Amino acid sequence: MSEHGSKAATANAAPAGETRRDFIHIAAASVAAGGVAAVAWPFVQQLGPAADTKAASSAEVDVSKVAEGSEIRVLIGGMPFFVRHRTAAEMAKAVADDNVPMRDPASDESRLVKLPDGTYNPKILVTSGLCTHLGCVPVGPAQGSVGEFGGWYCPCHGSHYDTSGRIRKGPAPKNLAVPKYEYASATTIKISL
Ligand code: FES
Repeated sequence: MSEHGSKAATANAAPAGETRRDFIHIAAASVAAGGVAAVAWPFVQQLGPAADTKAASSAEVDVSKVAEGSEIRVLIGGMPFFVRHRTAAEMAKAVADDNVPMRDPASDESRLVKLPDGTYNPKILVTSGLCTHLGCVPVGPAQGSVGEFGGWYCPCHGSHYDTSGRIRKGPAPKNLAVPKYEYASATTIKISL
């Protein structure tokens, strides 16, 4: 682990109430700093960004370490991002709903980024971790609440996102944003601010 990675691990101490399972998932996820430092953490609301994380502008994430059906949460420069490994059922549901009327229409594939070989890996979905209503951080599988459409739920005012991060119910006006990111390899993504 790099020097910066060590800092991330230090900042990654389990907050009160976190389950051991959550912590193991996060600890197993490999997040490498691509700037100054990056942090993966399960409960965004409970940790304020350290001074060094504010200065980070990008982070590399080994998506092969994200367990199927779970996600990791990555903090870059104080901004949260979700990296989710979708199950077969979650992927199928996302595609099946492509043509359902939505507030912010988008196909599931349009929310993915191509791998270096030009193909897609629909198992991995990467989104912003900010609700598009007023900027709360939705809860997801790690918190045991995925909302009525199986993706994320924002408890602040009741917005429900589906397994593609599309807004399906509640006051949020837009889908969870797809951040600027690319595949550095078949298993590593680089997310940038
Ligand atoms: S901030 Fe998410 S529903 Fe209001």
